[in-house]
Amino acid sequence: MVKSWGFIGGGRVTRIILGGLNRAGRLPREVAVSDMDREALERLKGLFPSIETIPGDNRRAASRDIVVLAVHYPVVAQVLEEIKDHLKEEALLLSFAPRFTINGISQLLGGFDRIVRMVPNAPSLVNMGYNPVAFSPAIPEEERQELLDTFQALGECPQVQEEKLEAYVIITGMGPTYFWFQWAELLEIARELGLNPKEGEEAILHMLTGAIRALYQSGLAPEEVMDLIPARPLAQEEEGIKRAFRERLIATFRKLKGE
Ligand SMILES: NC(=O)c1ccc[n+]([C@@H]2O[C@H](COP(=O)([O-])OP(=O)(O)OC[C@H]3O[C@@H](n4cnc5c(N)ncnc54)[C@H](OP(=O)(O)O)[C@@H]3O)[C@@H](O)[C@H]2O)c1
Repeated sequence: MVKSWGFIGGGRVTRIILGGLNRAGRLPREVAVSDMDREALERLKGLFPSIETIPGDNRRAASRDIVVLAVHYPVVAQVLEEIKDHLKEEALLLSFAPRFTINGISQLLGGFDRIVRMVPNAPSLVNMGYNPVAFSPAIPEEERQELLDTFQALGECPQVQEEKLEAYVIITGMGPTYFWFQWAELLEIARELGLNPKEGEEAILHMLTGAIRALYQSGLAPEEVMDLIPARPLAQEEEGIKRAFRERLIATFRKLKGE
């Protein structure tokens, strides 16, 4: 049976997931997206003309076979209350929101337990995401595989322990933001130094791909890898950057865990 999809929230993550599926030629035939923000829906419709957009009524999006909760933490409880009487018995609810556990969501939905949690990763847009997923025990293996099969189009989709999802939010969900601005800056610098945009992008892409493999796959200890290049023009900034990583990421993790 061809499954219908309903996304509640038509912002960034919905754009990423639909974009990745579309790029892989796997955009589901029936996709409805609800949002309070008409502009977000218009933008989405411009990108994916086949989708149905539903301004201001989450209940209609919630009546599909796969219901995707793509809103931020502060409105999750309110949205769950709004949709709880509109979910089909055999629907799957897929939540992207951190902090709300499968049990917590189930309680807010009056006992509905066909729940999946996933931590989306923005590179899914180019089918290179790493999207850890945890299923409620109520979902049979066959249905898990069906959903995973669709999401393989976005990249890797490992099944993980639910308690680890907030760690993945820090490492993979938000991870690109720690680096993207640096790579964008490096590209600007490459241009200033005389490389054209294509040369700059190629150089940085290959440098980064090789650098990460050297760090994790060369068999050398991290200190040995980092010692391979004696010139380190940013050495004076390293301690400050490491401190910022440690303090801010761990504080964000604790907040996500409600500690
Ligand atoms: N973006 C990522 O890469 C990423 C990665 C991991 C996890 N996530 C999770 O995915 C969820 C969505 O994130 P996002 O980045 O897509 O956020 P976003 O770009 O802000 O999109 C959320 C959308 O939901 C709308 N919205 C707000 N209240 C609503 C309601 N009551 N009913 C329906 N729609 C409502 C928002 O409208 P307004 O703007 O008008 O409020 C906005 O258009 C969050 O839980 C986030 O933690 C995102």
